[in-house]
Order: sequence, then structure tokens, then C-alpha cells
Amino acid sequence: MWIAKDIETLRKYRSEAKGYVALVPTMGALHAGHVSLIRRARELGHTVVVSLFVNPTQFAPHEDLNKYPRPFAKDCETCIAHGVDGLFVPTVDVMYPPDVLDCEVNVPELAKVLEGEFRPAHFPGVCRVVAKLFNMVEPKVACFGMKDYQQLAVIKSMVQDLAFDIHIEGCPTLRQEDGLAMSSRNVYLQAEHRRHALGLSKALNEAKRLIDAGETDPLVVEQVMQQVMIAHHVIVDYAVLRHAHTLGELDIINPQLTGDIVALVAGQVGPVRLIDNKVMAQTL
Ligand code: PAJ
Repeated sequence: MWIAKDIETLRKYRSEAKGYVALVPTMGALHAGHVSLIRRARELGHTVVVSLFVNPTQFAPHEDLNKYPRPFAKDCETCIAHGVDGLFVPTVDVMYPPDVLDCEVNVPELAKVLEGEFRPAHFPGVCRVVAKLFNMVEPKVACFGMKDYQQLAVIKSMVQDLAFDIHIEGCPTLRQEDGLAMSSRNVYLQAEHRRHALGLSKALNEAKRLIDAGETDPLVVEQVMQQVMIAHHVIVDYAVLRHAHTLGELDIINPQLTGDIVALVAGQVGPVRLIDNKVMAQTL
């Protein structure tokens, strides 16, 4: 497995890569969820490249940029064990050269709601770094998790509008046996908060149960989701049902009329802010 830390080295390896390149962009601290993306990339591409970069532009000043886990040696082992061909591990100066003026990339319509309300700088940071990674790695396919549902929607929209010739593959959320979605931030959860964190997936399951039982009022389902989260001591940021593609609000739950629906939740559990979602009908 090659490792490139700057763009010149990356481009040298890239020019020697065989066939389709499948990219898995990550911030490292790889877990089974990331590995599932690597596996999917292996199926879709001839050459699999993983990027490891804790992207400062998608963190607000009060967020966990500095304490974000960076187990580089372990991440390398994980990549080697799963047949990754190349790692791109740029430094902040490689990704954001100090003498270059900033460029803005964003899909404001999708980025301003939900996560965007709580983290206004987040998606502009994600779009910018992902666009840069696409231009540097030049993949034919890139794999993203549905765990970050809004991120996937934003990236798909960016790729469409900027006409990147890249297929965006949305991959299912990997969960622990009790339902907690895998996340690099779960390592911060002590036993009690780990139990509380189950409030997110339980709220989503409850939403699915209500909808399957015929509930048509989005407000009723949203209230129940919120109650489940509060009962688990989650400080709720949002617990909502939205159109699966536009993330717009719903008047009524009727996938025949309204199209696909997704339930999205976010909240603070002890020291960690967690997000999760579940598609009620079809997938993005
Ligand atoms: P990161 O949080 O490291 O996630 C990298 C990829 O792994 C994302 O596409 C994310 O949706 C996916 N992922 C995370 N947990 C998952 C799970 N439990 N099951 C399946 N996939 C999962 O998302 C980012 O990094 C960054 O925003 C990035 C896109 C790399 C841009 O900096």
C-alpha cells in the first residue's frame, strides 16, 4: 500500500493506478463503518484509495478538532488488512496552502437546514474539502455513508451541479448489535452515556413502527421520537421527518403522495453530539 502525504506524490501514484479508482474519504479513526465503505469501494473500483484528513474547515472553533482521535498507525493497519491500494494523508498546509486564497463551495439550499442550523460552517467545509479531494485523487467512484445522510445528499447535489464525472455510492449505516450507529466519536462515551446514546436509534425504530402502523401525521411521529430521546437523557437538537431527497418538511406521511421519507435525529449525549437517521421508504 502506498502512502502519499503531498499532491505531487499522490499524482505520481495516481498516474500508475490501474482501472477505475474508488475513493473513500475519511477523517481517520477508522471503525467497522469505514471498513464497510472500503469493502464497497473494492467491489466498485480496481484501485481503492482512502483519504485520512481531519478537515479543520468543517469544525467550528468550539468543536472537537483538536481532540478528534488520530490513531494513524492503527488506521494504516486497517487499510492494509482490507486491501486498500493507497492512502492519501495530506497535512493541513498541503490541503490549505497558506498563500492561496480561499474558495467557497456549497449547496446552500440543502446545507442550511438540520445540521446546518447547528453547524453553519460544516457543509461549506465538507464541500470544499471533498471537491479538492476529487480534483486531487480523480476517482471514478466515491463511497459515502448514509450515516451522514445530509452530507451524502449535499455531496450528490454538489457533484451534479459541478459536473464531476464521479459516481457517488451511498452505503448503509453499520450499527453495533444494540442499534448504536458506529461513529469515531463513540470512543468518548462512558458506560452510562453509551446507554443513553441508544435513544437515537430507538427513536428512529419507533418512528418506523408508527409509520408502518399507519400514522400519517408527521408531528405525532416527531413528538414520539423526541420523547424517546428525552427518556434516554439525550439533549435533543432535532428529531424530524423529511423528504428523503430535498430534506424539505412534510405535511402528511404518505410515500405514495410525498415520495420517500427519512427520519433524522441529532442530540447531545454527555460529552458527545451524535446524529443518526433511518429511511422510512426507499433510499437516496
Ligand atoms: P468521517 O466521519 O470519518 O466518515 C467517513 C465516511 O464514513 C463518511 O462517508 C461517513 O458517512 C461514513 N461512516 C461513518 N460512520 C459510518 C457507519 N456507522 N456506517 C457506514 N458509514 C459510516 O464524513 C466525514 O468523515 C467527513 O465529513 C469527510 C467526508 C471525510 C470530509 O472531511
